Amino acid sequence: EKGTYPHFMLKEIDEQPFVMRKIIQEYQDEQDNIKLDSNIRQAMMDTDRVYIIAAGTSYHAGLVGKQFIEKIANVPVEVHIASEFSYNMPLLSEKPLFVFISQSGETADSRSVLVRIKELGHPALTITNVPGSTLSREANYTLHLHAGPEIAVASTKAYTAQIAVLAILAVDTAKAKGLDLEFDPLKELGIAASVMESLTDQKEAFEKIAKEYFSETRNAFFIGRGMDYFVVQEAALKLKEISYIQAEGFAGGELKHGTIALIEDGTPVVALSTQENVNYSIRGNVQEVAARGANTCIISLEGLEQESDTFVLPHVHDLLTPLVSVVPMQLLAYYAALHRDCDVDKPRNLAKSVTVE
Ligand code: F6R
Repeated sequence: EKGTYPHFMLKEIDEQPFVMRKIIQEYQDEQDNIKLDSNIRQAMMDTDRVYIIAAGTSYHAGLVGKQFIEKIANVPVEVHIASEFSYNMPLLSEKPLFVFISQSGETADSRSVLVRIKELGHPALTITNVPGSTLSREANYTLHLHAGPEIAVASTKAYTAQIAVLAILAVDTAKAKGLDLEFDPLKELGIAASVMESLTDQKEAFEKIAKEYFSETRNAFFIGRGMDYFVVQEAALKLKEISYIQAEGFAGGELKHGTIALIEDGTPVVALSTQENVNYSIRGNVQEVAARGANTCIISLEGLEQESDTFVLPHVHDLLTPLVSVVPMQLLAYYAALHRDCDVDKPRNLAKSVTVE
């Protein structure tokens, strides 16, 4: 039920802080340690390489998950688009573990990979919002997202839930391997939840940005580096699918290798800057496009901000910035679609779960 909300998408964006808290609760034991299926822990310990398989928004969550598993748990990770992997399988490591990320658990492209790798005898873990779904039943292990039903076609709370669960999985593996950790995911997720709440309380700010940048335009660019590059790819997908604006998420440094040719007077370019090591360089990329007439907007993280930034996100742990930086992106897409009179919850040509290859 939508309740008082005009659209499921807006309701689901608002639910994200609660989903974070639900995940903390579900993955915490009485001693405030991580609670996770010991078989999954063992599978993560046994593998020499994780292969994340997903589509669309879930693929974008996988890109963030790779950073967690590599940086926190020290296990190499590859992230693959399911439909590509099915037809062009890479050379596999000796002891691969396949991790399927899927809100619905019914995505046919991912299932066809699962069928293939089972034939090869490799283990599989499915991270899904629907335990009992096909991908969950057919995998060896399941991690539940606990996001509650996601009705809007555009995925929002499933993406942040996937990122949270991947962070917990990475830390659990690191602990099992005896790695020294300063990162307490359950505590940091709690902080991120509060920040998400403060952002969903400031909808007018994002409505205003959406109106200014997206109400007339035919195209838009989102740029970022490192972690922000993954989030801007998700930002562009959200804007494309519900507002029909042609949008691309680009690595800031890659623009000058071709894409900058598309920048004209007034082209909207939204930059994300939440990572200290690239704060300076992404700002350089913004200047490059501004000099060619782009209508630029910078969303930065507290501590890295400059006075001219359009919006400053409250501070969260470096690794968890996608959880909060995606919220403005979701709201920008929502309000852009609203201003353009698009059907927010049921965009044209799209189905909630894609059960054909
Ligand atoms: C985008 C969107 C799609 C899905 C994709 C995978 O907002 O909803 O890109 O993320 O079709 O679906 P699941 O996660 O159900 O496998």
